[in-house]
Order: sequence, then C-alpha cells, then structure tokens
Amino acid sequence: MTVMPKTLHVNLFEMACVSHIVHGMWRAPENARLRFGELSFWTDLASRAETAGIEAIFLADVLGVYDRFGGLEPALRTGMQIPNLDPFSVVPAMAAVTTHLNFAVTASTTYEPPFAFARRISSLDMLTNGRVGWNVVTSYLPNAARNFGLENEIEHDARYERADEYIEVLYKLWEGSWADDAWRGDTIDNVVTAYDRVRRINHQGQYFSVEGPHLLPPTRQRTPVLFQASGSERGLQTAARHAEAVFIGGRTPHETKENIERTRAAAQACGRAPQDLKFYVMAGLIVGKTEQEARAKLERYRKFYDVEGALSHAQSEIDLRAVDPELTIAEALAETGTSFGNMGRRFGKDQKVGAALEQISRFDEGRYFAVGTPAQIADSIEEWLDIDGIDGINLRQYHSFETLNDYADFIAPELRKRGRLPPFPCRPSSFRARLFGHDRVSNRHPAHSYSFEARSS
Ligand SMILES: Cc1cc2nc3c(=O)[nH]c(=O)nc-3n(C[C@H](O)[C@H](O)[C@H](O)COP(=O)(O)O)c2cc1C
Repeated sequence: MTVMPKTLHVNLFEMACVSHIVHGMWRAPENARLRFGELSFWTDLASRAETAGIEAIFLADVLGVYDRFGGLEPALRTGMQIPNLDPFSVVPAMAAVTTHLNFAVTASTTYEPPFAFARRISSLDMLTNGRVGWNVVTSYLPNAARNFGLENEIEHDARYERADEYIEVLYKLWEGSWADDAWRGDTIDNVVTAYDRVRRINHQGQYFSVEGPHLLPPTRQRTPVLFQASGSERGLQTAARHAEAVFIGGRTPHETKENIERTRAAAQACGRAPQDLKFYVMAGLIVGKTEQEARAKLERYRKFYDVEGALSHAQSEIDLRAVDPELTIAEALAETGTSFGNMGRRFGKDQKVGAALEQISRFDEGRYFAVGTPAQIADSIEEWLDIDGIDGINLRQYHSFETLNDYADFIAPELRKRGRLPPFPCRPSSFRARLFGHDRVSNRHPAHSYSFEARSS
C-alpha cells in the first residue's frame, strides 16, 4: 500500500497596511505596498493567490498604535501597522474575484461586543459561501485599551477568561439560534423564515448579556474556522478547547514537536481528537533559480531593512542603537533607568545589546526560514512536515507581489511535483472542508454542543 505524503496548507500572511512584519521593504522597487488603500491591490493580490494555489489570505489586525518605542513618531514614519484598514473591508472585494480562495480574519475578543462581531463574520461567511476563518486574539496594545475607553489593558489571563465567555456567546448565536431549516424563502406559503425554528439565546453571563436571536440564518460553516496563536499557559487552554488551527513555534524540530504534542494533549483533555487540530508556523521562503540567486535576493532585501520599524514593532523600551552594544539588556535597562519589560522578555536579560539588535534587524530568523533553489526550499518544507510535525505555513510576504509570484513560479510547482500540495485546481468548497473534509465543526468540538438540534432534544 502506498502511503500518501503529508500535504502542506499554505496561507499568505497579510495585513491591510504598508509595513506588517518586514519593516522597510515597502521601499523596494516594484513593491506595491503603498497601494494598500486601493481596491485593485486586493483584487490583484487575491487573483494571484488563487492562481498560485494559496489556500487562504490570512489578515492580521491591531486596534491601536505601537507607541511604546518613541511615541507615535517611529510607527507613523515607518508605516508600522498604521495606517491600517479594517481587514473585514477587503474580503468581499477579494471574494468577488475568486471562487475557492479562503480568508482568515483577525478580530479581538476584548473590544467589540460579541453580538456585533457574530453578525459581521456571519455576513462574510454568507457572502463568501463558507470561505471564512477567524483568528481569535485578545489584543496586546495598551493604546488599543485606551481607544476603547479603558485606562489600561485588561490583565493578560483575565482577557482569556472574557474570551472564553465571548466565544460561548458566539457559539450560541452561530450554532444554536437558527435551525438549519428555518430559512424558507417560500413565495407560495408566504414565509421568509419559519418563526418557530429561530430562538433567542438569552445569554446572561459574567461579562456579557445577549438576548438574540442571531440576525442571520445558518451560513455554510455556521462557525468560521477558528485560528489562534498562544504563547502562554492560559492562552493554550483557550486554544486547546476552541482552536481548529493553532500557530506554534519552536527553535528546534524537537521543541516544535513538543509544543504540538502538548497542545494536542490539552485538546484531548477537552474531549477533542488529535486530528481535530492543524498546526501552522510563520515561514519565510526566499527562492532563486540557483542558490546564489536566492542569496543575492536576500541581500537585496536586507538593504531595505528598517531597524526603527522593527524596534517600534517590538515595543522596545529603549533605543538599542543608542547604547553600548557590549552591555547586556539588563545593564542597558539599568543604565537608562528603564524597567524590565518587552526587550528583557524577548531576548533574556543576559543577551548582549549588539546581538539583540543584530537579531531584530534580520529577516532570517529561526527554524522556519529557507533560502535557496526550489528543491532546497522543498527539502526544508518536507522536514518541517515530516519531522517537526506541522501542517501548514503562514507565508511571510517580503515583497508584494514578488513573494507571491516566486511561490507560484518556483516553490508550488516543486512541492506539487513531490505530492506535497493538495490537488490543484481544487473544487470550490468551504474553508473547513479544505482543512478537515466537512463544512461544520466536528461533533467533538464545543461549538457542536450548542447546536439548535442538540438544545431542542
Ligand atoms: C502568526 C501569528 C499571528 C498573530 N496575529 C495577531 C494579530 O493579528 N493581532 C494580534 O493582536 N495578535 C496577533 N498575534 C498574537 C497572539 O494573538 C498572541 O497574543 C501571542 O501569540 C501571545 O500569546 P498569549 O496571548 O497566549 O500570551 C499573532 C501571533 C502569531 C504567532
């Protein structure tokens, strides 16, 4: 019996702004990032992505400015996630020019009321016929808290407590408010919706009170595909219970494998099965016809790197460029009278300033980075799939649309030749069906227990 090799799920990592994670690259010749506010940028991106066989555009989002490093100036000057469109606004345009490209949209459980959010994402799921996912975040920017009337951020673990109830409200709206046969559109009997097949949810909880019913009938997926990234124990609990696609990391294959196993075990403790979760990493791929060409491209990209944007993104408490590179982070913080914070957590207090700066200023961080020929890149990806145990990547976009074109022209054909991508062109289906083979959440998923039918019996 031939065993089919494991195939790779590929999302294109996007954010509706000039500079998302590769700061300074917007200045590279032919980079289209300055067109982020034009509809044609998004329709162009989506058409290219679909043709390339990309499974989903993954849209990040934040609800404030990174103002910890030097106030507003560095973020604004470097276009570091500001200006930033509402990611929901670009999806219909992309959906209109594609038939099976999916869209994972980031939205926070901390600031928007769950009723409003449930309606917004169901609207997208309806209009795209089930091509939508939700990246669940609780938000980490202090400025976001102040934008929504709070003096300070809600404490980290408390945000996840709220998130758990928020998600429960959503399940009640998405899964439990309307029966599958509620929507009739029946001109003979003169019934748009069967009133006895729709219910209020009457949720009264610690944080939210929502009467319902949901304002939309069941969409193809009802609950959008749930993505989450967590670095903390408390975040992991929420991911293990709810997430169907989890961002994971690791410096070594062993570490990633362990993180995956730990998350799977936590999910199993919530009554879920190992196959109910997919694991993604953020990956950078720089390809050339020869290794030399690929390395030259990396060097070309590096010339644009903007350290100010990177420090702003890292929410650095200090300007690492202005202190002696031989000092440790702890010494630099002490010297500048700054308390231990983001830089200490990110690099460790014993890391030298120069090394930290070097690390923050590079594109080729970590294990999930490959530069070389299509064959060399495919070799790396096969290792990530087979040894580390990942299922998918969020493809880091260095250059719009060079990264996408390189993927289409060089990387995808090599992966396809090796049987490492799903069949292409694929039939239109829902996002969840592309990942798991069914439109609706599995019956082991907690959302399922809120279904109209389950609550009727
Ligand atoms: C690939 C990836 C994408 C992320 N996208 C966002 C985002 O768009 N907006 C956001 O506020 N946080 C985003 N995050 C941060 C996570 O939501 C989360 O805060 C982080 O992984 C730390 O985990 P913790 O909340 O468990 O401490 C992202 C993280 C990863 C790894």
